[in-house]
Amino acid sequence: MLTTRPRGTNDFLPGETEKWQYVENVLRTICKDFGYQEIRTPIFEHTELFQRGVGETTDIVEKEMYTFTDKKNRSLTLRPESTASTVRAYLEHKLYALPQPVKLYYIGPMFRYEKPQAGRFRQFHQFGVEVFGSSDPGLDAEVIGLAMGIYHRLGLRGLEVHMNSVGCPQCRPKHKEMLQEFLKKDFASLCPDCRGRYERNPLRILDCKNEKCQEITAYAPTILNCLCPECREHFDKVKHYMEISGIKYLIDERLVRGLDYYTKTAFEILVNEIGAQSAICGGGRYDGLIDSLGGPPIPGVGFALGMERIFPALESQGISLALESPLDVFVVTLGDEAGKKGFQILMDLRMEGIKAEKDYLGRGLKAQMKTADRMKAKYAVIIGENELDRGIGIIRNMETSAQQEMPLDQAVDWIKRQY
Ligand code: HAM
Repeated sequence: MLTTRPRGTNDFLPGETEKWQYVENVLRTICKDFGYQEIRTPIFEHTELFQRGVGETTDIVEKEMYTFTDKKNRSLTLRPESTASTVRAYLEHKLYALPQPVKLYYIGPMFRYEKPQAGRFRQFHQFGVEVFGSSDPGLDAEVIGLAMGIYHRLGLRGLEVHMNSVGCPQCRPKHKEMLQEFLKKDFASLCPDCRGRYERNPLRILDCKNEKCQEITAYAPTILNCLCPECREHFDKVKHYMEISGIKYLIDERLVRGLDYYTKTAFEILVNEIGAQSAICGGGRYDGLIDSLGGPPIPGVGFALGMERIFPALESQGISLALESPLDVFVVTLGDEAGKKGFQILMDLRMEGIKAEKDYLGRGLKAQMKTADRMKAKYAVIIGENELDRGIGIIRNMETSAQQEMPLDQAVDWIKRQY
């Protein structure tokens, strides 16, 4: 127990964390290019925020939240997603008083009590964006473009954007009625979950993974046939903007998201190679959410992508990230006095922003050179007793094996000039 991590969580070890940092750099850079600013909210929030925000009848709220009471008996929940938290912060800090739209992004861990499997964890990481304050369909296309831009910069190809419109409170009741009417005769054959959904949230039945339910709903009326004129016009414009930006997409009339706040556009980005958990990104518009959390009627749109799902996708396409070379200089020393001088040079190099390392295990010359090699150092600075007496060191170019003697007090400057 003491040496085993909780089920569904991960340790990211050196070697892997560099890859995460690389991806995080890409995310931050693209957000700068698109004009999104970072927001950081707490890991836990009042439980009610997610109940009201994500929706009482969703799997997330019904089954998957890590909820606990604190010492003052307040109910708190580890965030299962960040849209509700971002809206809460937007309202709490009155960001609606700023020039709109407000464009935010976040990176961080989320928590859902799900059945762990490949690509599905109980603690996982999302990068997401949220745009508040405009109902312009161009923004729906902008956020999809931002997500695709990330995958493109990472080198991923062959992704599919699936889009749908899930309507609004005007057009959904009509669809709900038609759907219930259609499903009535097969009610008894639906899975227990879907029988529960029939009254409360029949739209979710379209998203059920149960084979029998999928069979029953194969020809169910879709929301696209029921859209009100405003939702239809919005969806047409989103598609148009997608075409202008050159992003290919598929209309998936059965696309239903697992969170209740969506209105109008809903989308997912899928990659085929990573197996069952092929949704690497999901999002959409939520024009009623801010209102329902006690704010003004302000529209919003955004998405979140699963960071853990990026790496298997990269691997399956044979893409290795261009990680930086690990080391500039390895300082090799022999004997105590040379060791001290070497330590000084080591620290001076680092203060100058040069990545440097030395031996701390008292190894001999050969073993130290081997370590320098293994760490892919560009240079080795070699100081033996002999060299120390003469005030010099040997600088070896590890790639070409060329060596030169250099006064020790000039070594740091010389190396600095090579960069
Ligand atoms: P979501 O579809 O629940 O949406 O999650 C978004 C993405 O997070 C998924 O496509 C998937 O890549 C990743 N993800 C979800 N659950 C797990 C898990 N258990 N393990 C690993 N990865 C996972 C949301 O969370 C919305 N807040 C997105 C959004 C933002 N909509 C509007 N704004």
